[in-house]
Amino acid sequence: MRVTSAAAALALGAASVQAISKITRQGRYLFDESGSRFFIKGVAYQEQGTVVQSADNSFGEPSTFIDPLSSGSACKRDVSYLQDLGVNTIRVYSVNSSVNHDDCMKTFSDAGIYTIIDLSLPLNGSIDRTSPSWSSNLLDQYITTIDVFASYDNVLAYNVGNEVVIAVNSTVAAPFIKAAARDTKAYLNSKDLDVMVGYAAIDGTPNWRDPLANYLTCDPNGEGSGDLSIDLYGLNNYEWCGDSTYEEAYAGTNADYAGLSVAAYFSEFGCVQSGQTRTWSEVAALYSDDMTAVWSGGLAFSYFPAESADGQFGMVTVSDDGSSVSTSDDFDNLKEQYGNASPSNSPSSGSDSYMNCFSTNDTWLASNTLPPTPNDEQCECLESNLSCQFTPATANYSTIVGELLNYACATLGEQGASCDAIAADGGSGTYGLVSGCDATIKLSYVMSLFYEANDNNAQACSFNGNGTVNSQASSAASAAASSCVSPSTFTPTAPANEPTSSGGSSSGGGGSSSGSSGSDENGAANIWADNRALAGMGAAFVVSVFSAVWTLV
Ligand SMILES: *[C@@H]1O[C@H](CO)[C@@H](O)[C@H](O)[C@H]1NC(C)=O
Ligand SMILES: *[C@@H]1O[C@H](CO)[C@@H](O)[C@H](O)[C@H]1NC(C)=O
Ligand SMILES: *[C@@H]1O[C@H](CO)[C@@H](O)[C@H](O)[C@H]1NC(C)=O
Ligand SMILES: *[C@@H]1O[C@H](CO)[C@@H](O)[C@H](O)[C@H]1NC(C)=O
Ligand SMILES: *[C@@H]1O[C@H](CO)[C@@H](O)[C@H](O)[C@H]1NC(C)=O
Ligand SMILES: *[C@@H]1O[C@H](CO)[C@@H](O)[C@H](O)[C@H]1NC(C)=O
Ligand SMILES: *[C@@H]1O[C@H](CO)[C@@H](O)[C@H](O)[C@H]1NC(C)=O
Repeated sequence: MRVTSAAAALALGAASVQAISKITRQGRYLFDESGSRFFIKGVAYQEQGTVVQSADNSFGEPSTFIDPLSSGSACKRDVSYLQDLGVNTIRVYSVNSSVNHDDCMKTFSDAGIYTIIDLSLPLNGSIDRTSPSWSSNLLDQYITTIDVFASYDNVLAYNVGNEVVIAVNSTVAAPFIKAAARDTKAYLNSKDLDVMVGYAAIDGTPNWRDPLANYLTCDPNGEGSGDLSIDLYGLNNYEWCGDSTYEEAYAGTNADYAGLSVAAYFSEFGCVQSGQTRTWSEVAALYSDDMTAVWSGGLAFSYFPAESADGQFGMVTVSDDGSSVSTSDDFDNLKEQYGNASPSNSPSSGSDSYMNCFSTNDTWLASNTLPPTPNDEQCECLESNLSCQFTPATANYSTIVGELLNYACATLGEQGASCDAIAADGGSGTYGLVSGCDATIKLSYVMSLFYEANDNNAQACSFNGNGTVNSQASSAASAAASSCVSPSTFTPTAPANEPTSSGGSSSGGGGSSSGSSGSDENGAANIWADNRALAGMGAAFVVSVFSAVWTLV
């Protein structure tokens, strides 16, 4: 056999980098290919986007984001620090599906580092806390991102939401999260992509926090099926501050999750206290036998600087030219704690069993009836048949949509008409025919109702220059909705306008997806970081993702 020396060197080089082990879930535990339990030792990895302070942005949510997996040089700069820190997983909160992620994903894969990728984007790219819906634009965004990451071997999980439910009165948003998990999971299965579906929950009082965990993992049909369950439950937990103890900080929470049927981890941890260096003493507790019966590790918040009222969450500082980083005492302390943590490798297997769902009560308001799978084709049929269509003058329309919906529905209400068709009520499990469509189609629908209620007077379709009469429309809006839309649950497919160069293929292990341009993904900011943390401990007020904030009358 003749092998040239270059080829031999290549073969050797290739052999020296071991492929990252596939992680699988059995019941509530994670295992690597060798059969050892897998524990997440992670860090949040995303620079903070721009935060525009305003009255309806009480949580200080960023309205932009920087994709942390888009710059190969930045990832190469950071990878040795991440390895030094001893992490095996990073969590990223928003990615841009139009850019190429090959360099970063390979850099991290070669270093044995997995990624947990949140599918949400700022503003209109996430499930709205105050007016939740599970709609075609979100599903399409999620699928597009999944396709872009499909060829990488180090995606551990996709999160379908972060801190959407934040209080008793927002538990009605839970059906939309569960529907998002259902459809995302069905899509992954249809592509033979064996990646977990997760959700990252804000911490809160057990009277709604614990039922939420049950709800996202239960089978409402009572058949013990996991089709409607998340695989990975994340808790953003900041209960351990300073020098606490297991008993003081974690014992209660640990007991509350003792019956969970899927894998769980702390999707964020690391309380900051003004002026104090973090010792990360909670790491020893988190990887102790007390905790590992329930939890599979966690992610420290955060690698990059993240300011909060209580202090700085970051562990490194990036130089102005982006070429180098310097580490803080927090970094060194976490490195030491992660280095010392050696959780027991037991049990050696787990088994699946999915509980029945609770019914509603005073602190758990979510219906077990989920919204249907959003349907692009049906929504497009509707849009094309509406008499008055939203035609924004600007590409940056996401804030205008909320304002106009508010205005149109308020005005319709005064005229005795209703916006019920676009409404989705997760408390009663009632989902209007148009509720699964993109907010822009909802707006066209409402504009059409208004126009029709005003005798098809062209003036009534103007909305200050945002609406255009559609002369092709042959029926009333409500009739178009009944004829176009018939709600059902099904396995979704990739959106028709998905950028072709960046995916769609389910196979391959080479990280071959190339960047594409012309994507429609330009949502603005999202639920980026831990809102409670960034807003200060305990200040868990209701938040609005300050775009689609509108109310029905
Ligand atoms: C939930 O309750 C909070 C505090 O009482 C209130 O500010 C908020 O508006 C309520 N949210 C909803 C969606 O009703
Ligand atoms: C509602 O049910 C959940 C789950 O059983 C329970 O945790 C919660 O405490 C209950 N709330 C009330 C007010 O009974
Ligand atoms: C969000 O709104 C922008 C326009 O501001 C739009 O281009 C984008 O497609 C929207 N994203 C989603 C998921 O609806
Ligand atoms: C989009 O519109 C919002 C609200 O009008 C504004 O704050 C933001 O700066 C605009 N973004 C761009 C990229 O024009
Ligand atoms: C569209 O609606 C927005 C929000 O109400 C308004 O500010 C704007 O002037 C309207 N017209 C155009 C052409 O954008
Ligand atoms: C709606 O438009 C489509 C074409 O987009 C057409 O095939 C369909 O018959 C129309 N339906 C109604 C109710 O007008
Ligand atoms: C995503 O990347 C494309 C291409 O660089 C860019 O045009 C677009 O603005 C980015 N979107 C966001 C939301 O950053």
